[in-house]
Amino acid sequence: MPEDERQHVGPRFIMGTDITLRRVTRDDLPHIRRWLDDSETRALIGAAVPMSEEDAAKWFERVDGDPSRIWYVIVDDEDDSVIGEAGLLRLFPEWRTTDMTVIVGEKERRGKGHGSEAGRLLLDLAFNYLGLHRVAIGVVGFNEAALSFWRKLGFREEGVQRDGYFHDGAFHDFVMMSVLEDDWREQQGRPVGRGGQ
Ligand SMILES: CC(C)(COP(=O)(O)OP(=O)(O)OC[C@H]1O[C@@H](n2cnc3c(N)ncnc32)[C@H](O)[C@@H]1OP(=O)(O)O)[C@@H](O)C(=O)NCCC(=O)NCCS
Repeated sequence: MPEDERQHVGPRFIMGTDITLRRVTRDDLPHIRRWLDDSETRALIGAAVPMSEEDAAKWFERVDGDPSRIWYVIVDDEDDSVIGEAGLLRLFPEWRTTDMTVIVGEKERRGKGHGSEAGRLLLDLAFNYLGLHRVAIGVVGFNEAALSFWRKLGFREEGVQRDGYFHDGAFHDFVMMSVLEDDWREQQGRPVGRGGQ
């Protein structure tokens, strides 16, 4: 996409407590490729194949500045290192819906609360700044850590794509989850905007 046609949605940075979300640049592609080189991570997120340097460059050109996607790297503020990626994709403002993704690519940085913080910052962006109503995610059925992670963020299972994911010679379920604006506000202990109570 030519530079002048790129329509980035959302701020360039979102500052959290321990992490910062920063818009992805071309320079981040080697990190993303390295995370996708790991077959265990690919299995957990449902990515079929690693990404070549050329494919990564083409993909960046296609999605950077696409108004239906807000795409960040997760930066660990402790040492300024890029540890993962997170974003909103398939944003559809007409229906006030979006899908979401969080991947802590650096394995040794998992389980430290950084994924949760990235998730909370994105949900705040989605519901409080973009005025969205529904955020959805599809989770590989055997990814117990991710199922637990999304539940903790307020997502609920809403259905299962039976045998929706083929991996390592076998079919696996794919779990559809979502969080609605009102669920999230209730969880945050904030008024849900229905008035009166
Ligand atoms: C899933 C993922 C995003 C979670 O981020 P994280 O920073 O590692 O997780 P957090 O430290 O914020 O943990 C939040 C909750 O997630 C769940 N969780 C995280 N790691 C877990 C593990 N190894 N086993 C079980 N549950 C786990 C727990 O419910 C945890 O809450 P708790 O600490 O109170 O038990 C991250 O581990 C990751 O990117 N994994 C690989 C890729 C992936 O699965 N992405 C999601 C695709 S849908």
